Amino acid sequence: MDPNHGEESSELFRAQAHIYKHTFAFANSLCLKCAIQLGIPDIIHNHKHPITLPDLVTALQLPPAKTSYLHRLMRLLVHSGFFATTKIHENQEEEEEEGYVLTPSSKLLLKDELTSLSTFVQAIVDPLLLSPWQVLGDWFRGNELTAFETAHGASLWDSVDKNPQLNKLLNDTMESDSGSMRLALRSCKEIFGDLGSLVDVGGGTGTISRIILEAFPHIKCTVLDLPHVVANLPESENLKVVAGDMFLSIPPADGILIKSVLHNWGDEDCVKILKKCREAIPSKDDGGKVIIIDTVINGERDEHGMTELKLVFDIFMMVLVNGRQRNEKEWETLFLEAGFSSYKITPIFGIRSLIEVYP
Ligand SMILES: C[S@@+](CC[C@H](N)C(=O)[O-])C[C@H]1O[C@@H](n2cnc3c(N)ncnc32)[C@H](O)[C@@H]1O
Repeated sequence: MDPNHGEESSELFRAQAHIYKHTFAFANSLCLKCAIQLGIPDIIHNHKHPITLPDLVTALQLPPAKTSYLHRLMRLLVHSGFFATTKIHENQEEEEEEGYVLTPSSKLLLKDELTSLSTFVQAIVDPLLLSPWQVLGDWFRGNELTAFETAHGASLWDSVDKNPQLNKLLNDTMESDSGSMRLALRSCKEIFGDLGSLVDVGGGTGTISRIILEAFPHIKCTVLDLPHVVANLPESENLKVVAGDMFLSIPPADGILIKSVLHNWGDEDCVKILKKCREAIPSKDDGGKVIIIDTVINGERDEHGMTELKLVFDIFMMVLVNGRQRNEKEWETLFLEAGFSSYKITPIFGIRSLIEVYP
């Protein structure tokens, strides 16, 4: 046998496994969605102790014939770190059993927790948002601005206005995403502490503003977003709501917050938005600043997996809205073009960073 043959074939099978792993990546996200839909994280949490497979089947009210299938679903989700197993010692005569417990990741999937990402997971793999991925190749050959438009016949922003289901899906997704920033924001006294007023541009249903107000109740916050997003949004003493268009006008304030908005837009539009932000704030000496919460691609600093996630998010923006994720150089170019003088990046939210930009 040719000694090179074994090496060649093992390289071939490694390559095959690499392709299969990426091809079947959808199965991981859809199994996660299934676990959330069934309510598995909450059942385990409410059980208070490690839960055995038969008890899990009972608690989920599944037909007993589904026990072995549930075992296989859980085996994958344990392998991917969403749940763990531990030995249960009921009493000394009985055989030792295994029970499922939550991990830090599935704790973030508990439905009623303020930091829950369960809505986020379900929304991202909703058929409305997944269908554009099926036509990505057609989009590359066609003339539409986004694959979303190729799939649905209209841009995301136009569709959202007319489709309450899509509007709710996107608002729920962003509320879910913002909730997880609660803990980190509390430690941002240096960033928010001196601000008397703040406008949350493209603030959605105001989740991040309300989180900021929990930590810094002295700030007067205004949420600015499109009319269909902020319709019926309750106001409070320190939280005002403005239905408007950030391309046209932004109410004046000491600071502007703009979270997960600029990554929705191309460079030209970002410069337009940033110029409007700049017009709305005082000079640097008078404490004016724009606070951006968004992704900064940094392949040198980040681990391989984190960079991959940021690159996937970049394609997500390309597919849905003609937006993009940016590296530091690309951010800097936008800031300088919009007339800002300096900036400071603080990577405090995992995939997202906080960027302070000064006039
Ligand atoms: C990805 S969401 C981010 C929401 C919120 N900042 C958050 O992180 O939860 C982008 C937001 O920009 C808003 N938006 C889009 N075009 C806008 C415009 N022209 N003026 C104001 N807001 C706009 C959308 O309605 C949406 O709420």
